[in-house]
Amino acid sequence: MSLVPVAELLKKAQQGHYAVGAFNCNNMEIVQAIVAAAEEEKSPVIIQASQGAIKYAGIEYIAALTQLAAAHASVPVALHLDHGTSFTQVVQCIRNGFTSVMIDGSKLPLDENIALTNKVIEVAHPLGVSVEAELGKIGGTEDDISVSDREALFTDPSEAERFVREASVDALAIAIGTAHGQYKGVPKLDFERLKEIRKRVNTPIVLHGSSGVPEDAIREAVSLGVCKVNIDTNIREAFVAAARKVMEENPREIDPRKMLKPAREAATAVIREKIRIFGSSGKA
Ligand code: G3H
Ligand code: 13P
Ligand code: ZN
Repeated sequence: MSLVPVAELLKKAQQGHYAVGAFNCNNMEIVQAIVAAAEEEKSPVIIQASQGAIKYAGIEYIAALTQLAAAHASVPVALHLDHGTSFTQVVQCIRNGFTSVMIDGSKLPLDENIALTNKVIEVAHPLGVSVEAELGKIGGTEDDISVSDREALFTDPSEAERFVREASVDALAIAIGTAHGQYKGVPKLDFERLKEIRKRVNTPIVLHGSSGVPEDAIREAVSLGVCKVNIDTNIREAFVAAARKVMEENPREIDPRKMLKPAREAATAVIREKIRIFGSSGKA
C-alpha cells in the first residue's frame, strides 16, 4: 500500500471513537517495529519524524524507509512531520512524499500562528497532504516551570474555536497537561478543558507527550475526542533497555544486530500495547 494522508485515518477514528497512534521513528528498527505492531494489531498507524530524527537520518532516508515499509504492509500507514519548524521544511517533506505535516507555530502570537498555518495549508491541501497545528504550549517534562505556570500555557478553548474557524487544519494539537519526555510524577490532564474545546471544535484533536500518561487517562482523553496520540519516549525506553540488557549480559558482543533485534522486538511489544489502549486494533 502507498502512504495515506493522516486526515483520512483521523476522520475514520473520529467516527469510530478511537485514536490512531502516531509513533516517532528514531531509526530503521523503529520504523520496522511500528509497522510490525500495526500489522499484528490490524491497525492503521502513523509514523512520524521529529526534528531530531531529521537531523539524525535526513528527510530522504526517513521517507524512503517508510515508503518501503508501507509498500509491504497490509494496513494503512501515514508519514507525518512532527513539530515542523518552518515553511521550507514542510515543502521539503511534501516533496519527499510525506502525507502529513505539522507546522508548530505554538510559540508565535495567535494571529501569526494562524497565518503560518494557512500558508502551509495552501501548499499542502492541493497536494492531498494533511496539516496539523499546535495551539497552547506543550513543552518538555524537563522545563523548569511550576504547575501554575504550565497551566497558563494550556490551550484556551475560545482561541481554539477561532483557530479552526480561520485555519481549516486536519488535526489540532492542544496543551492540557501533557509534556514531552519522562515525567517526574504522574501527569494530570485537564479533562474539563478538553470537553470545552471539544464542544467548540470539531477538528480531530491530538495529544502530544503521551508516554507515561496512565492508561485510564489516555482512554478518557480518547473518549472525549482525542483522535491522534503521539508516543516517542516509551518506545525509546523499551528499545534502549533491551539493547542495554544484551550489552550487560554479553559485554564482549560486537555484533550490533544482536542488540538491535531484541530492541526492535521490545519496541514492537510497547507499540502493540499502545495501539490496544487507543482502541484502533482491528480498524485497518
Ligand atoms: O516531539 C518531540 C519528540 O518526542 C522528540 O524529539 O527526536 O527531536 O528528540 P527529538
Ligand atoms: P513523548 O516522547 O512524551 O511520548 O511525546 C511524543 C510527542 O509528542 C511527539 O510529538
Ligand atoms: Zn509532540
